[in-house]
Amino acid sequence: MASRRPFLAGNWKMHGTRTEAVALASDLRAQVGDVADRDIAVFPPFPFLEAVRNALRGSRIEVGAQDCHAEPKGAYTGAVAPEMLRDAGCRYVLVGHSERRSLFGETDDVVAGKVLGALRAGLMPIVCVGETLAERDAGKVEDVLRRQVNAALLRVSPDRMERVTVAYEPVWAIGTGRNATPAQAEEAHAFIRHLLTALFPAGQADRTRIQYGGSVKPDNIAGLMREPDVDGALVGGASLSAASFAAIVRYGKG
Ligand code: PGA
Repeated sequence: MASRRPFLAGNWKMHGTRTEAVALASDLRAQVGDVADRDIAVFPPFPFLEAVRNALRGSRIEVGAQDCHAEPKGAYTGAVAPEMLRDAGCRYVLVGHSERRSLFGETDDVVAGKVLGALRAGLMPIVCVGETLAERDAGKVEDVLRRQVNAALLRVSPDRMERVTVAYEPVWAIGTGRNATPAQAEEAHAFIRHLLTALFPAGQADRTRIQYGGSVKPDNIAGLMREPDVDGALVGGASLSAASFAAIVRYGKG
């Protein structure tokens, strides 16, 4: 089995002022800026990307955006091209977050286009998938994951897949304080990895990192990370405090 480097990401969503964003980045830099055995990234709102990038310069913490458009340019008022994000110093971009899917009407097709656009621009997309509570209660977790994973990744070439991370984020666990148990997360992650083995050449599925997201906190991260197919976390609420995100990044280090 490939050894996958843990990847901890903080999605700040639509929160904070520029001053608060820079202060949070500076505090994180002081607390975990030199952690070398894990990948760390924060996802500030668009207007603060460069300021946060500058505050983190020289540290090991990378910056990503919360969304992008599929196209490199054009008459798409209000949208941001992946190439622009590269230009602003981003390494990563979130694609298909459940809030984008449910509140902004992003379909599987839209998500697939954004994944390709992000890869074309040289970004590393984090592709978010996950079922709602109604879908889980109806026994449809695997159907939903199969549909979302296949749609998002079917047109990704094997060499570009090296730059993709998948985030399993059950919608019922996001912002609710109700995280999936480690066993529930592992079951979904193992299934996602199984889906990847059907899409990509041998070895690729083993190398792809799968993050868990949904009410990740300092006190539940270690249990989640003990599962063999949980390779990191996509953290919302708990990433808005430097102390709690730093504790999540440093899980297991005492
Ligand atoms: P949460 O959000 O940690 O606040 O549940 C996770 C996410 O939306 O990525």
